[in-house]
Amino acid sequence: MVPFTSLRGGIINLYMMKVTKAIFPVAGLGTRFLPATKANPKEMLPIVDKPLIQYAVEEAVDAGITELIFVTNSSKRAIEDHFDSNFELEATLQERGKKELLDIVKGILPDGVSCAYIRQKSPQGLGHAVLCARQLVMNEPFAVLLADDLIDSSVQPCLKQMVDQFNKIQTSIIAVEKISADETKKYGIVDVASANEILATVRGIVEKPDPQQAPSNLGVVGRYVLMPRIFGLLENTVKGSNGEIQLTDAIAKLLHEEKVYAYQFHGKRYDCGSKLGYLEATVAYALKHPELANDFKRSLESLVE
Ligand code: G1P
Repeated sequence: MVPFTSLRGGIINLYMMKVTKAIFPVAGLGTRFLPATKANPKEMLPIVDKPLIQYAVEEAVDAGITELIFVTNSSKRAIEDHFDSNFELEATLQERGKKELLDIVKGILPDGVSCAYIRQKSPQGLGHAVLCARQLVMNEPFAVLLADDLIDSSVQPCLKQMVDQFNKIQTSIIAVEKISADETKKYGIVDVASANEILATVRGIVEKPDPQQAPSNLGVVGRYVLMPRIFGLLENTVKGSNGEIQLTDAIAKLLHEEKVYAYQFHGKRYDCGSKLGYLEATVAYALKHPELANDFKRSLESLVE
């Protein structure tokens, strides 16, 4: 393995690769949430008062990511606007003395973190979306975060857990969790020697298999740390499940060349790509929200009665 050397990172990086870039594939159509997502990106749907994409970005920043790469399409401009400054809004909040709100708005993108946007011209799948970011990532390990998967962890944010592992093992890591047998058609499923190991070598991976064909009950969750070799493999990956270029299929090739690990993270994942998961997340986050928790708990109780 050739060590990544970074002029910015100094001597340590001569020996250790660091993950500083993250890809956010956000070009999906969001059909499961129509009509809400007709003119509004699904990644901008709020969980209480923050859009899904902001949770994913905060998780990335907490893990040490400084370059955010969004793979978008023409209907996702609201995402660019969200991470840009809004002079009119900021001036008005300032004028009205709304200091707290002003800080919230200005703090959406922390100092030292940059955003880049690249268009995916047609919806050709997750693998294709990741490949679109190749020129921006170049020859470095990178993270991929799917904002649909919202992960709440009281220990460390999920990606931070993975980056900590990466700093020790210096090779690709995919987040996985145990899923029920009848759900295999919704996930990439890994083949590992033992489903009880927190960090296990991946022997195989398959996209959305039938339950009878699934190699385990460990489903891939939308957090990846990948070695740049994946780009070359994606380039030659043909359409797979659902007629799309699948990241899973390129990972299946990668593990013939390099070690790939499956990591069972600490935390609770909400599948916000489904209405039920989205509602569960909304309720769970509202019950933790400092301003809302008590009142919301009371209204919830009275609604359920
Ligand atoms: C994608 C991946 C799949 C993974 C899932 C996690 O599928 O292709 O392997 O398990 O994300 O959310 P999608 O949900 O985009 O169909």
